[in-house]
Amino acid sequence: MSVDANLDHEPTAAIPDPALVILVGASGSGKSTWAAQHYLPREIVSSDQLRAVVGSGEHDLDASDDAFSLLDQIVAARTGRRLTTVVDTLGLSASRRLGYLALARRARIPAVAVLFHTDPAVCRQRNRSRQRSVPAAVLDEQLHRVQEAADQLASEGWDAVVRAAAGQALEPAHSPGSRSAALLQRDRPTGLGFVLQVSRFGWGEDPAAWLKSIALAATQAGFTGIALMDHLIQIPQVGRAWEPIPEPWVTLGLLAGLDTNLRLGTLVSPVTFRAPGVLAKTAATLDALSGGRAFCGLGAGWWDREHAAFGLPFPPPAKRLRLLEIEIEMLRALWHTGTRPYRSDRVSLPETTCYPRPAGQLPVIVGGSGDRTLDVAARLADGCNLPSDLETFDARLAVLRGHCARAGRDPAEVAVTVLDVPVIGRDREHTATLVESMRGRISAAAFARRHHAGVAADHVGRYRLLAERGVSTVFVSLPDLAEPDDLARLTPIVSSFAA
Ligand code: CTP
Ligand code: MG
Repeated sequence: MSVDANLDHEPTAAIPDPALVILVGASGSGKSTWAAQHYLPREIVSSDQLRAVVGSGEHDLDASDDAFSLLDQIVAARTGRRLTTVVDTLGLSASRRLGYLALARRARIPAVAVLFHTDPAVCRQRNRSRQRSVPAAVLDEQLHRVQEAADQLASEGWDAVVRAAAGQALEPAHSPGSRSAALLQRDRPTGLGFVLQVSRFGWGEDPAAWLKSIALAATQAGFTGIALMDHLIQIPQVGRAWEPIPEPWVTLGLLAGLDTNLRLGTLVSPVTFRAPGVLAKTAATLDALSGGRAFCGLGAGWWDREHAAFGLPFPPPAKRLRLLEIEIEMLRALWHTGTRPYRSDRVSLPETTCYPRPAGQLPVIVGGSGDRTLDVAARLADGCNLPSDLETFDARLAVLRGHCARAGRDPAEVAVTVLDVPVIGRDREHTATLVESMRGRISAAAFARRHHAGVAADHVGRYRLLAERGVSTVFVSLPDLAEPDDLARLTPIVSSFAA
């Protein structure tokens, strides 16, 4: 898969996707041809085709009323589900256009008008060479009305009015600006680290062999590390309760023995699972064994079920957040050189004798997005992991920065990372197929948005936008990771940031 192949476009004219797209142009102006070049057949609703469905053929004008009532029904149903819909009609009736616009508003998807300003002489020429041509006077009338429509469109309230062009870019509506960001990344690349987060373990009969092959494939794809989820039961967001979810620190020990330079850690370990001192020992051991490649993700924990099932207390949020503060402080105390006693408001240790010491600086990354979790991260952590959705990210980053300011902490001391669970398709059709196969009971539109479904270039653009906002590392979890070869899909994306 080539990223460049998705990028042969001008960055300015991207059409959001999904969207309701209305074509406006005279007969022979190239509407159906353009639609077929940019959209899947099922996304295009054509009055001509529906005439052929309910009438004797595409030109059966007596069937127009029936064709248009079907067309309206299909457009309403698809738009209501936030599915991309291209209305392939002449588009010359203002009242019809406004009706479609209202549907899009109600469904809260972008509404786009695509204007076909094809040279009238070309339309006439094409019309003459057609088997069934439109009478010349009718075509003239259409051409005149296209001019009128062009003026009206500007004030009708469309999210975008686009002049049709060949090779027009579609841009995921969830990531506005990602197309031009992808072009910028191609022309003036910026660096960004990628760590593979493994959350599903379809390892078959040989867990160790599967894990090793995943780690080697991750290295080949350009990842700089592997992060493991820390759960006692597979979480419903990822899989079924009887699917394997290994103890992460033991598993990282296995990965540490491989001949790679991968950084290794959890994303994230709940404070409720292990006594802080024991986690300090575990992470320090991993760091020593791996030559300083460990990192330690921490969170307040959220899933009551796994605690109950494993006989662990699950205190209320305020207590868990306090545990988080205590844990970070205790990790740092025990990892510090020397064996002196450690005392603070929160922590009291008669000695700090913890050998082996970590081989280097062992970063603590706090994951979570609640205000109070971000407060802990701002005061105590080396990094903070935020959601990758741009809108949520911006809001959460502002909160984190606010906490940093109040705590008098230099924001540069708190690395910002994100967890991203992308659906990556070879092309639009493949992307849609992947979404449909994975969405479960969630609507396709909601699933696609949650997983930023798109082709490689879409993800490159999105990651570029995150890098510009100060993200240093993206933890990538593939929602359909089954075997090592699946990671090859990420190679062109990761290598775009290998600056
Ligand atoms: N065509 C072309 N080059 C283009 C676009 C169209 O040669 N860039 C040709 C098509 O092959 C077709 C004719 O022009 O034979 C009309 O194009 P079409 O896309 O069918 O035009 P529409 O606007 O869809 O016409 P109508 O309103 O009649 O459906
Ligand atoms: Mg047509």
